[in-house]
Amino acid sequence: MKIEHHNYLYYVLDKPVISDGAYDKLMEELKKLEEQFPEFLTPDSPTQKVGAPPLEKFRTVKHTTSMLSIDTATQEEVLRFDERVKRELGIAQVEWVAEPKFDGLSVEIVYKEGRLVGGSTRGDGINGEDVTENIKTIRAVPLKLRDVEIRPPRLLAVGGEAILNIKDFEELNKEKILRGKNPFANPRNAAAGSLRHLDSRETAKVSLDMFFYRVMGCKGKKFESQWEILQTLPKWGLKVNSQIRLCSTIEEAIEYHDQMAKQRDELPIEIDGVVIKVSRLDYEEKLGVKARSPRWSVAYKFPPRKEETQIMDIIVQVGRTGTLTPIALLKPVDVSGVTVSRATLHNQDFIDQMDAKIGDTVRVGRAGDVIPEVMEVIKSKRTGKERKFHIPERCPICNSEVIKEGAYYRCTGGLSCSAQLRRGIAHFASKGAMDIDGLGRKTVNQLVDSELVKSISDIYNLKKSDLVSLERFAEKSADNLIQNIEASKERELSRFIYALGIPEVGEHVAKLLADKFGSVPGIMDAGEEELLEIKEIGNEIAKEVVDFFKEGKNRKGIAELLKLGIKARPAEGRVGRKLEGKTFVFTGALSKITRSEAKKLVESQGGSVASSVSKRTDFVVTGESSGSKYDKAKELGIRIIDEAEFLERVR
Ligand code: IVH
Repeated sequence: MKIEHHNYLYYVLDKPVISDGAYDKLMEELKKLEEQFPEFLTPDSPTQKVGAPPLEKFRTVKHTTSMLSIDTATQEEVLRFDERVKRELGIAQVEWVAEPKFDGLSVEIVYKEGRLVGGSTRGDGINGEDVTENIKTIRAVPLKLRDVEIRPPRLLAVGGEAILNIKDFEELNKEKILRGKNPFANPRNAAAGSLRHLDSRETAKVSLDMFFYRVMGCKGKKFESQWEILQTLPKWGLKVNSQIRLCSTIEEAIEYHDQMAKQRDELPIEIDGVVIKVSRLDYEEKLGVKARSPRWSVAYKFPPRKEETQIMDIIVQVGRTGTLTPIALLKPVDVSGVTVSRATLHNQDFIDQMDAKIGDTVRVGRAGDVIPEVMEVIKSKRTGKERKFHIPERCPICNSEVIKEGAYYRCTGGLSCSAQLRRGIAHFASKGAMDIDGLGRKTVNQLVDSELVKSISDIYNLKKSDLVSLERFAEKSADNLIQNIEASKERELSRFIYALGIPEVGEHVAKLLADKFGSVPGIMDAGEEELLEIKEIGNEIAKEVVDFFKEGKNRKGIAELLKLGIKARPAEGRVGRKLEGKTFVFTGALSKITRSEAKKLVESQGGSVASSVSKRTDFVVTGESSGSKYDKAKELGIRIIDEAEFLERVR
């Protein structure tokens, strides 16, 4: 009892009245007592937070009510959201609750008669993984609800976020590095990794923390508002973040957002925005939910993180199709857990607009959280020693002429430019294309450097004796590569078309072309009009395709490849064409099948899978923790289905 009281003071109120040492002593005493009198040891004793033997896999459990995701909004959209809510409710003012948007892993925890009986991850929102044993090890999660001020209800299902404090995250990573293991990229991944460990004793070793923010089911107590919920949960021992605010106008909620954004770097936990919710629960009910998100809440996110560093140099990268991209070489800097040492400057216009110079101090961020980008030049930090940069007039690799096409500069060297040749071959041999195992970047470089390969077709003339003369090659690996090159001659038409590296022609478009025209000559001679008959092909792609095959160099190259034995036959044996012309995009992790199995299923029925959402997408399939693609799909009004519905459609 005493320990439970101190737990409450420490974890929930954040106001311990005894030292850590004194607390540890109490724990020791309790452990000894329980050893001495095992009949008094209960499963919800504070000593029982050490984990249980490992599981083989997690069971799936259905959530009490579905765990929704929240639409993200810009400031303008937040204001419109407020207008819409007021209009729909027919009232002039709504009370909002503004809370931090925790960047962790959302979970549901169920208490029956005040005792913790279950805990699960969000999963697909309907079903999650049963991680009860892991959750029990979190010290901020009581095994038994406090029964001092208000009686706990008969049944309580609460939603909250399992997180790892930044300090604990850094410590955990330090330790991982010491043990020669890869560190986690960010606190979120670390929390997810620890909470989803099959061995809960491992979870117990990590100082996970928890904030509760929602009641998903309750029997035995009626709440009027979200605000009331947030005031009541702590009384039961369930920790609620102290930085929450009840706002009487949306402007107040926006101000709260701006304030939190300023504090962001000083907070002990990682938050990526604020969540704004209608407080009154009868309003919540009236507004209801759509597809997978509530109509009574929005997430107003913070701008992506930026870090300060310096441009040491600017180099030019030559892409597969000759595009010259200026790349800033940076003094390495940590941006949300990833070391960034290069960032794209896109093109000359971008450099000019920003007035970026070599030597400048800049802020870099990760656009869409992936590709690092120079976002801002801090001109006040200039010393006068900075140097201007301009894309050169000749290709830095092959010295061919560089021409300007729209915003971009392009090397005219084609495959005589070794940078383009290298990238062209690597693409040709890549998995989705001709799939030549053993012909990766390093080997391609060796082959081009040694001048064994001066064009793509040269790879089909390679002999074992050529390869064994190269470093890193032995009899066996040389044999293998020759065999793999030989086998690639059997790849089907669509892969060959994709392998050619025609601008704008990805795997999907290549399939459409193969399906429609059925042979290499058929595609080579297709006119723009014929191409436009394909629903998903627009002017831009049609033009690129026609231009590519008009080029004498390209026709000659293809003829050579065919002469060397590439068959490029159309695919056969498709199961049915139920999904003919339909494009699917997957986001988040699937639970029943793997992504590549899903892809095969779609393709076997004439459909295709794309990697990003566009107007042309027919379905977006959402798995666990689906992200920006989901938002994009909603923005474009694209049909969103979950894994179960997807499986129903394809089976
Ligand atoms: S309430 C509205 N409150 O954000 C549906 N969610 O993008 C119930 N999250 O899956 C969620 N902080 O994991 C709510 N203060 C907060 C939150 C929060 C973080 C997460 C949660 C949810 C996701 C939605």
